[in-house]
Amino acid sequence: MKKILVTGGMGFIGSNFIRYILSLNEDFKIINVDKLTYAGNPENLKEIDRKFPNEYRFYKNDICDFATIDKIINKEEVDYIVNFAAESHVDRSIDNPSICCETNFFGTQSLLNAARKHKIEKFVQISTDEVYGSLDFNDSPFTESTHLSPNSPYSASKASADLLVNSYYKTFNLPVNITRCSNNYGPYQFPEKLIPLMIYNATNDKELPIYGKGINIRDWIYVDDHCKAILKVLLDGKIGQIYNIGGDSEISNIDLVKKILKILDKPESLITFVTDRPGHDLRYAIDHNKITKELGWKPEIKFEKALELTVQWYLYNEEWLKNVTTKEYLTYYEKQYKNR
Ligand code: NAD
Ligand code: TYD
Repeated sequence: MKKILVTGGMGFIGSNFIRYILSLNEDFKIINVDKLTYAGNPENLKEIDRKFPNEYRFYKNDICDFATIDKIINKEEVDYIVNFAAESHVDRSIDNPSICCETNFFGTQSLLNAARKHKIEKFVQISTDEVYGSLDFNDSPFTESTHLSPNSPYSASKASADLLVNSYYKTFNLPVNITRCSNNYGPYQFPEKLIPLMIYNATNDKELPIYGKGINIRDWIYVDDHCKAILKVLLDGKIGQIYNIGGDSEISNIDLVKKILKILDKPESLITFVTDRPGHDLRYAIDHNKITKELGWKPEIKFEKALELTVQWYLYNEEWLKNVTTKEYLTYYEKQYKNR
């Protein structure tokens, strides 16, 4: 049995990854370590304990707490670590850069130390294309050798963590991989990120705040495709390598939001242009040729279809959305938009 310690498994991508791995019914055991911040939600994996009593364990714990991580790895005889845990939102990292550095950098260091101590078979760092910085409209997409040039506290903390991971490979021969993926969407994403926020606001006939003119471009990937790529990297990725993961789906924010409104049959008059995000990256685009050639992965689900599925998921899971949009959430977002 392969025992995988997944950090941040109660968040958006981590919970989708755990669900995917366990659904394969192969010889995997998942040990999920999550601090349960505002973004970590046990409802994301509600039925998993019951369905997989022998294949799944949850520990509420901070990845920065080395002593406890050490004990968990020892007790569970962990073979692999996949590090999803992070403060993942750019806007929050602008409001409070410290928390982001704490988890994204020092948390990664604590895990690397534990991985080294226990001679873990593979450490996979889940990173982001945002470490490369911003592209102009006509620039070629990011490759794995594009210079790191992060612009937000979030992306700077992720880039720093990537450098640290690489240093543990070079200095201590720790078997590592780094994955750098574009913007994910799909079920269980906290409605602070563009797609679920716009679905939530539109269904409640609230204004849809678009930063600046809405011309910024992101490459979007359905979360299932990302999870499949991560498993490929975990099992077959060449030690010490970085793999870019992308969805081949570039679109501007304004065009994306209009598509969501069309699916929901809501008027474009809900769109409100607000003050731009400071240091807002213009465009992200990914060249994923390396993972395609080496590991035979490519995105499978078409953007239009997956967006429709995503909208339907949030409509169908009204209760989940109601439970995460608590009073604290509403106060935070009211303040955010009043300041713009
Ligand atoms: P998320 O915010 O939905 O989830 C983060 C999870 O980490 C939460 O469950 C939270 O409780 C947990 N966590 C935070 N701090 C912790 C700590 N100190 N100790 C233990 N757990 C902690 O994030 P996500 O969107 O699922 O992103 C997961 C990873 O993927 C992140 O590393 C992010 O940088 C990366 N990534 C995200 C995207 C995207 O579009 N969402 C794209 C590329 C890469
Ligand atoms: P986001 O989902 O925060 O992801 P990231 O900043 O990591 O790419 O934002 C995606 C894009 O949408 C980004 O260009 C910022 C923009 N955006 C808005 O225009 N309005 C919003 O309310 C949010 C949350 C994002």
